[in-house]
Amino acid sequence: MCGIIGAVHMKGNIASILRQSLKRLEYRGYDSSGIATVSEGTLFIKKDKGKIDDIHHRLNFDTLPGSIGIGHTRWATHGPPSKVNAHPHTDCQKRIAVVHNGIIENYQELREQLQANGHRFESQTDTEVIPHMIEEALSHTPTLKEAVAETITQLEGSYAIVVLGTNGKELVCARKESPLVIGLGTQGVYCASDVPAFLPMTRKTIVLEDHEVVHLTSNSALMSRIDDTGSLAPLPIREPTVVKWTIDMAQKGGYPHFMLKEIHEQPRALSDTLRIRKNDLEAFAEVLHNHKNILTIAAGTSFHATMAAKYMFSHIADRLIHGVIASEGSDTVAESLGKDTAVLAVTQSGETIDTLHAVKHLKNQGATILTITNTVGSSITRMADSVLYTQAGPEIGVAATKTYATQLATLASLSISLGTMTGAQTDKESQELFMALNQFPNLIQAVIRNQESQIKETAQQYITKSNFFFLGRGISTSTAMEGALKIKEIAYVHAEGYPAGESKHGPIALVEPGFPIIFVAPNDNTRRHLESNVMEMKARGAQIISICSATDQRLIDLSHHAIPLPELPSKFFSPISYVIPLQLLAYYAAILRGHDPDQPRNLAKSVTVL
Ligand code: M6R
Repeated sequence: MCGIIGAVHMKGNIASILRQSLKRLEYRGYDSSGIATVSEGTLFIKKDKGKIDDIHHRLNFDTLPGSIGIGHTRWATHGPPSKVNAHPHTDCQKRIAVVHNGIIENYQELREQLQANGHRFESQTDTEVIPHMIEEALSHTPTLKEAVAETITQLEGSYAIVVLGTNGKELVCARKESPLVIGLGTQGVYCASDVPAFLPMTRKTIVLEDHEVVHLTSNSALMSRIDDTGSLAPLPIREPTVVKWTIDMAQKGGYPHFMLKEIHEQPRALSDTLRIRKNDLEAFAEVLHNHKNILTIAAGTSFHATMAAKYMFSHIADRLIHGVIASEGSDTVAESLGKDTAVLAVTQSGETIDTLHAVKHLKNQGATILTITNTVGSSITRMADSVLYTQAGPEIGVAATKTYATQLATLASLSISLGTMTGAQTDKESQELFMALNQFPNLIQAVIRNQESQIKETAQQYITKSNFFFLGRGISTSTAMEGALKIKEIAYVHAEGYPAGESKHGPIALVEPGFPIIFVAPNDNTRRHLESNVMEMKARGAQIISICSATDQRLIDLSHHAIPLPELPSKFFSPISYVIPLQLLAYYAAILRGHDPDQPRNLAKSVTVL
């Protein structure tokens, strides 16, 4: 996945605006970056391997001339991170520059044809075919827009592209299966992978649909739709949406890292999400109620939210759901199983390709698609029959934190609503459950306020440890797995999240004196059996760290370290508060080891490759 931006201003230099926009897109990829501008009919490009600030320090992006330009921040797919593979890419005559997010699946054949026609390639990327194809098309089409249209009809795969030509007055952008939004400002017009890129300039946005092509000048964004033959049909003017996000929401707000800011934002994110309209929730629950099978599809942290949902749906709504990891989705579910199946796809970005592919597969088999996502206008929302939005606001840190809490809250609300329909909950009981759920924003506020410094100390105490187990039972298995994922992805510490009961069937062989084990131990019906697992590990010399109720003196005494949490208003929703110490532990483990938690190596915020 990559971040792209294009901007046309009426006057003044655009380069520093593009650079700052790219900074706000850096969460989408950060192994190389580049900017191209045009001034007086000449194309100027600066690009290199590395993060934007480092490249800027070396090359000074801001000296690029001209009031029109494009920029790119890359997460490598085809060709390793390097200067030549960094975008923008150009044609042979250096008259066209292109930035691209997505994957061109037929690039090899296209490249061979272009090479046979005499085109010279500099990079190993799939993207570079695009400027050369536009160059070819311009030999027989009158306008850049038509040349782009002719080109994209030949592309297989996914793309959001912005094309800059040397006439210096226009940009052309287009999308298929990769996000692209238009921003309409007073100084000029923008297009980008995501709204924060142009948020300081404008809040007026238009989300593009697949197969739309937009011609941008400093005061217009003319939209067309392309058909299979490459013909462009003009689209009527679409009213822009005014996004409510402030630039402050999209930036660090005084915290050293986005991740810490986003952990602290969870009480707010949770209360906003819990304001979900009753009717919307019931309409969603009704679809689930009317289907024989309920299948969840999700990846990573979102998958852990669906694991927790399995317990909530079973205990609160008397409904069994089947949880499928997105990347396994199309291989797991047989073709005959689509009908009578409601698919609940959970994805914060709405762009995870594994999730999109699995959903597409199931949709083709006749399943009804529901989705819970944080991203308005994302690809999943166009595939789904019904959408529920979490209200986390933009999550920039690569590690999912506040979006996880809001997914849990939405799934919890849904299970209560469904429970009323199935008859598993009386109206009074479901009201009590909603009241319990509504206590969680204050509860997690208290956890953050009271526990953060102790968790930092704990992280310091275990700084030399390179292996951890995270164990839980029942719904807490999902919390344990989420804790292990967090510390792996940002602190680069090996950790296994496992069902505590299952740990004695193999993993226990790894335990030797001093081995740290984090037990997720809320006071629910799993607590008694969990104690046996604690004792088994303790007997082998493990260091026991318990996340448990402040009233659980017995476990506190058994543990080497305990992180006591407030009593739960409902045992069904424990992941919402019990994950907080694990997020903070991972954050401080990363900081103390000298790693940047916002941009862990090898990862990207949304994974748009299979
Ligand atoms: O955008 P999605 O929720 O579909 O993303 C799924 C995973 O890629 C994501 O949760 C990933 O595991 C995070 N980096 C975890 O912190």
